[in-house]
Amino acid sequence: MRKNLVAGNWKMNMTYQDGLALVSEITNMVADEVGGSGVEVVICPPFPFLHSIGKLLTAGGNIHLGAQNCHQKESGAFTGEVSAKMLQSVGVEYVILGHSERRQYFHEDNELLSQKLKAVLAAGLKPIFCVGESLETREADETFAYLEKQLKEGLFHLSNEEFDQVTIAYEPIWAIGTGKTATSQQAQEVHAFIREQIARAYDAEAALNTTILYGGSANAQNARELFSQPDVDGGLIGGAALKSRDFTEIIKSF
Ligand code: PGA
Repeated sequence: MRKNLVAGNWKMNMTYQDGLALVSEITNMVADEVGGSGVEVVICPPFPFLHSIGKLLTAGGNIHLGAQNCHQKESGAFTGEVSAKMLQSVGVEYVILGHSERRQYFHEDNELLSQKLKAVLAAGLKPIFCVGESLETREADETFAYLEKQLKEGLFHLSNEEFDQVTIAYEPIWAIGTGKTATSQQAQEVHAFIREQIARAYDAEAALNTTILYGGSANAQNARELFSQPDVDGGLIGGAALKSRDFTEIIKSF
């Protein structure tokens, strides 16, 4: 079922001590609201902090644990990598896949992401699958064609049952970490388009039930306007997820 969701993507930021402090502040500030508002909150810290932060979250209320990536294989000789099953075993529920930083700096393509998606789903975890166009693509007026291809190749190979587990995050690359947010109209236009593509690939019910997040310089000031759009179900938050007050304000924007 579609829900309102706010996920904090810490990326490669924070020490363990800073992370623990941030999470206690967040749980203290939102404990009551999160319980009653129906907003699902997900925190995605770096791998080494997952287990301890997960314990804090379980103790602190309705906030869920997510990871930022995982390997596509179940186990084996892949030095330095982390599998979906490992994540599941430390209490992770969500995994971000296909973030533009992974696509750009680690050369993750739709083929590899398909394998990662399968691995995440096989471990019983829920993918947050990111799509989004570059500034060049937007300026060339190719945004919709680009997104259609990304969705088809990256996501729509999943069965109906698998697709039910997926949350999509629309993150225009030109808006990530730049302070340049998509306008609420731009976000709504793309979110509606994504929903239309889901209806085509699956059916109207799947389209209606899919949670679609916006990401890219979302903050305490613009979240309310973005989340008020009919097809924007929440946000994948980077920079503003590193400050307890900002992140909490975003959660309260619903
Ligand atoms: P940002 O990052 O909010 O700092 O733009 C969002 C993301 O990359 O998920």
